[in-house]
Amino acid sequence: KGGKILILPGDHVGPEVVTEALKVLDIIEKHTGARFERDFDLCGGCSLDKHKDSVTEAVLKKCEDIDAVFFGSAGGPEWGTSQPNPESGLLRIRARMQIFANMRPCKFASKSMVSRSPIKEEIIRGVDFMLIRENCGGAYYGKKIEEEDYGCDPWEYRRSEIERVVRVAGALAMQHDPHLPVWSADKANVLASSRVWRRITHEVFEKEFPKVTLKDQLADSLAMLLITKPTAFNGVIVTDNTFGDILSDEAGGLTGSLGLLPSASLAGPPASPGQKPTLGANNAGGVRGLYEPVHGSAPDISGKGLANPVAQVLSLAMMLRYSFNMHDEAEAVANVLDSKAEGGLEVRTGDLGGQADTREMSEAIQGEVGRL
Ligand code: NAI
Ligand code: MG
Repeated sequence: KGGKILILPGDHVGPEVVTEALKVLDIIEKHTGARFERDFDLCGGCSLDKHKDSVTEAVLKKCEDIDAVFFGSAGGPEWGTSQPNPESGLLRIRARMQIFANMRPCKFASKSMVSRSPIKEEIIRGVDFMLIRENCGGAYYGKKIEEEDYGCDPWEYRRSEIERVVRVAGALAMQHDPHLPVWSADKANVLASSRVWRRITHEVFEKEFPKVTLKDQLADSLAMLLITKPTAFNGVIVTDNTFGDILSDEAGGLTGSLGLLPSASLAGPPASPGQKPTLGANNAGGVRGLYEPVHGSAPDISGKGLANPVAQVLSLAMMLRYSFNMHDEAEAVANVLDSKAEGGLEVRTGDLGGQADTREMSEAIQGEVGRL
């Protein structure tokens, strides 16, 4: 068990929270006998400083044959006018790895989450969905036209791009519970690319996931329902790049603090236990992926020990699950916020209204993981 991880801590709070998350990985190794080879490298402002580029070709090469990339965060005001900008390193890694399925879980975890959410507790209690955003196509790519008085971004989707990402949604639903529906969010009422998306998505589900209920939802109406009735979407939501960008930030807002939100970007559908992935397989029996917190480098709090390490730790849990097929260990780490049942973890960082520093929060997490 185990495999090879490329670790790119990045800038500001990136290295602070990555260091703490890796202590959790040490505990997992001790408990399971799994071994993870760790290769540390640069991406972001730190790479700009050393190599005058946000990511080097050598690092991009490594990303091609690594089991997983564990990423912190990139950027900061000191590289404000740099060309390229520090965040471009991550975009280049995404393109190189073809990690087209960006996954963000949105889960009601504990009191600590509720206390910071702007939404009433009775509305968000029980929320548990996975939002999958297509991340290598659509309006953000393609041939752009930018003139003095005219701008154009072609919003294109090809069959292969749609099929591969909606298969991730189908595979996830099958793994968790085929009774959980999959929602596909689009604007088929006005966009041709959405109508093609909708038609091909239905073809894939009828043929490959006949047991899963597929429901279409217009993206604008989904945006409203996520605020008023978010539990209605428990299950999986899959959508294109643009809608996914907006809806995933909205879903992030539901839970209150950026310090709690992990993400995974996968190069293929997750494999069921005991099976090999069909696309994007790595050497560890899982799927190639990049794992990072949703938050950025938080320069306003970096160097002060104030960052909440939870989002990075939960990203580690996703890595164990999808890239290394370590489902039990992933579950144990992912549940760490819930482990004190009603109250959630009592130790809390400032973003959760507490007094703890990064180290104390991390030690509380390590203590919980160590007991599992
Ligand atoms: P940010 O996510 O870094 O920070 C937004 C706010 O949330 C700040 O007040 C920050 O202190 C707080 N925050 C973020 N993470 C936290 C944590 N773990 N614990 C406690 N509080 C936390 O977003 P911002 O300020 O817009 O961007 C800062 C830099 O990060 C920019 O250079 C931006 O481009 C970059 N960025 C990088 C990303 C990446 O590497 N994937 C993603 C988003 C932004
Ligand atoms: Mg966004």
